[in-house]
Amino acid sequence: MVKKIGIIGCGAMGSEIANYIAKNLGDKSKVVVIADIDPRRAEELSNRIKPKPLIADIDGVIDKADIIIEAASPEVSGDIAEKADALKKDVLIMSTGGLLKKQHLIEKINLSKSRIYIPSGAICGLDGLRSAMTGAVKSVTLITRKPLKGLAGSLYLKEKHIEIEKIDKETLVYSGTARDAIKYFPQNINVAVTLSICGIGADKTGVKIYTSPEYTRNTHEIEIEGEFGRLWTRTENLPSKNNPKTSQLAIFSAIAKLKEILC
Ligand SMILES: NC(=O)c1ccc[n+]([C@@H]2O[C@H](COP(=O)([O-])OP(=O)(O)OC[C@H]3O[C@@H](n4cnc5c(N)ncnc54)[C@H](O)[C@@H]3O)[C@@H](O)[C@H]2O)c1
Repeated sequence: MVKKIGIIGCGAMGSEIANYIAKNLGDKSKVVVIADIDPRRAEELSNRIKPKPLIADIDGVIDKADIIIEAASPEVSGDIAEKADALKKDVLIMSTGGLLKKQHLIEKINLSKSRIYIPSGAICGLDGLRSAMTGAVKSVTLITRKPLKGLAGSLYLKEKHIEIEKIDKETLVYSGTARDAIKYFPQNINVAVTLSICGIGADKTGVKIYTSPEYTRNTHEIEIEGEFGRLWTRTENLPSKNNPKTSQLAIFSAIAKLKEILC
């Protein structure tokens, strides 16, 4: 049976996923409904893919689709996950930061008691972290390096009066917990929340964010220490062509998860 896909958020990620489905997964799935807070973006995407999907609001997408892909914002992702879960529908959440407001959902996800999926995003090593959690885990740290334009406009830089255009060498702009990181960088550091959901939680997961005019890639290093030993991964991501804050691998991770669900 061809699964009906609904996409919430028609930006870099939502559009690329929709195009991929139309071009490569047509025998198993079809994008039937989309939503965006910006009607022009929804219309643009609706006109680009065939067959043309319906434009709805968030509830309309959840209602009409079998599989929902959230690629919008942490402001709405928690509620989307909750509503889809209540209707026993599959939902992929990319703005994982929004799940921190829904601890009951995080517990269900970790016990595999829901159909809420969190793609691995732009990081590698979640499989090792999940295994490590069987024993004691002492520390989990994410060290992120982003080009200047990947951090532009973030709340943290504004609050700390950091003028991004004046940074002329490698600079540590943030060091703290994953919970605070997503509060200050809601569009830039969802991977910190993904990591904390799979591991020791948002208050214990450490995050360091560096930037530099020299950086051209979104680089994520993960360091985990525990009863098992030490794990270290490094992913050097190219940014998406359409949004420098989003890594191309994060978009691919959503597509890979969707293919897994469709199999
Ligand atoms: N999990 C990860 O590893 C990871 C990696 C990259 C991006 N992300 C997150 O995925 C989401 C999508 O990323 P993107 O690169 O496509 O961003 P984008 O800015 O290119 O697109 C987001 C789209 O969502 C729409 N939108 C925003 N708020 C909305 C709302 N309340 N209701 C409906 N639509 C809304 C915007 O108008 C925009 O069209 C972002 O929240 C981003 O932070 C997660």
